[in-house]
Amino acid sequence: MVMNVVKYGDSVLRKKCAEVTDFDSLPEWIDNMFDTMYEEEGIGLAANQVGLDMNLMIIDVTHTDEAEEALVFVNGKITDSWGESIIEEGCLSIPEVRLEVKRPEFIKFEYKTMVGEEREEEFSGLLGRAIQHENDHLNGIFIIDHVSPMVRMQVKKQLKEIAKESDTNRKNKDRKKSFVL
Ligand code: CO
Repeated sequence: MVMNVVKYGDSVLRKKCAEVTDFDSLPEWIDNMFDTMYEEEGIGLAANQVGLDMNLMIIDVTHTDEAEEALVFVNGKITDSWGESIIEEGCLSIPEVRLEVKRPEFIKFEYKTMVGEEREEEFSGLLGRAIQHENDHLNGIFIIDHVSPMVRMQVKKQLKEIAKESDTNRKNKDRKKSFVL
């Protein structure tokens, strides 16, 4: 099922997501997240981007040679990072804004699989990037938090419009809900 992608301005994107403890309910949410990510043509999606307060992310970089299948990371934590690279990033929650973001090139990432197995691996390249971007979401951080105040100023108007629309959508949803008897 395709879910609604939550946009910049919604408070669920500014909070640290809760650790997953109930792994039994994960497959359904993960399915819905993949449906949503492919519909929106993204390569990564964090659970709070569809309104779920869970430390859960999905990534598909199978168009590169970095991964042969789509990936799921639960309760992830970056335990080490080194190197540096600057790459332009976009975000499904901040439509049409693309920013050059400086991040570590290499990370060590500790996480659980969707069945709760513990893993720790090193990542780099596009996959390492995507993990850092989604991990940021799960901690309430956006790409705009990584750029200088001057660059942020340049997208201020766009951000304001996205936040305004986000607020209107929420109010409409609340209104609809109040008519469901
Ligand atoms: Co994003």
